[in-house]
Amino acid sequence: MFIDGGVSKLKKIVMDSKRIVAFTGAGFSAESGISTFRGAGGLWTKYDPSIYAEVNRFREDPSYYWRFFRDERYPVIKRAKPNEGHFALAELEKRGKIYRVITQNIDVLHQLAGSSDVIELHGNTRKIFCLSCEREYSMNEAYSLLKEELPPRCSCGGVLKPGTVLFGEPLPKVALDMAMLATRNCDMFLVLGSSLVVYPAASLPRIAKKSGAILVIINIDPTLLDDMADLVINGGTSKLLSRLI
Ligand code: APR
Repeated sequence: MFIDGGVSKLKKIVMDSKRIVAFTGAGFSAESGISTFRGAGGLWTKYDPSIYAEVNRFREDPSYYWRFFRDERYPVIKRAKPNEGHFALAELEKRGKIYRVITQNIDVLHQLAGSSDVIELHGNTRKIFCLSCEREYSMNEAYSLLKEELPPRCSCGGVLKPGTVLFGEPLPKVALDMAMLATRNCDMFLVLGSSLVVYPAASLPRIAKKSGAILVIINIDPTLLDDMADLVINGGTSKLLSRLI
């Protein structure tokens, strides 16, 4: 769909909608300098996720994950700032248009931009826990320990684990339940910057459509769910959203 035609159609759908769920993926934070996972230059083209981000491998040898966190994730997430897209969603929430933001992202940029109703399906990097005593550490505290020792250890001697969901781990139940509820009760489901290949998160657009919502997908690359969408725009999310407000 040609972008300009798409924007006017998008504006109309947003105007006519009352309960919009915004569903964001790594592409939404790409314009904040955080790499995506798939596609050109994606993290999983450099790091094998079954080694660097899988729960059983983490239990066997957490040093892979923590090296990946030290070298790739922490430096980028630490300095990342919300982009125009994040602020546009927060503004649309203030205007009573956005009902929930459901994100696969672990960077907390939605909250930093002022969005309040954010459901984090994959947890976030700002909270890190001891696997033994469950003591909580901040990302910066964990990074300081990481500089001393890899994997980083708690004062009790236990290994620290990220507050993010690793492959092979179930999603946080409360977040998933809230996401399902919001998805079934929205009248517009807006996908922003996700390849829609990771489940159960990627089942939400289909559930929204089945529940009668209008499905809109804004993503640079085509996705497997484009055929069922009411509107597909292959373009950058932040510029497009800022044109909405
Ligand atoms: N605007 C819009 N779309 C973009 C932009 C942009 N500026 N930049 C990249 N994209 C699109 C790409 O075309 C790609 O299809 O964003 C998509 C990002 O897809 P993935 O990298 O697969 O990210 P995501 O869908 O969020 O991955 C889901 O997989 O690795 C796990 O847990 C991780 O939450 C993540 C999950």
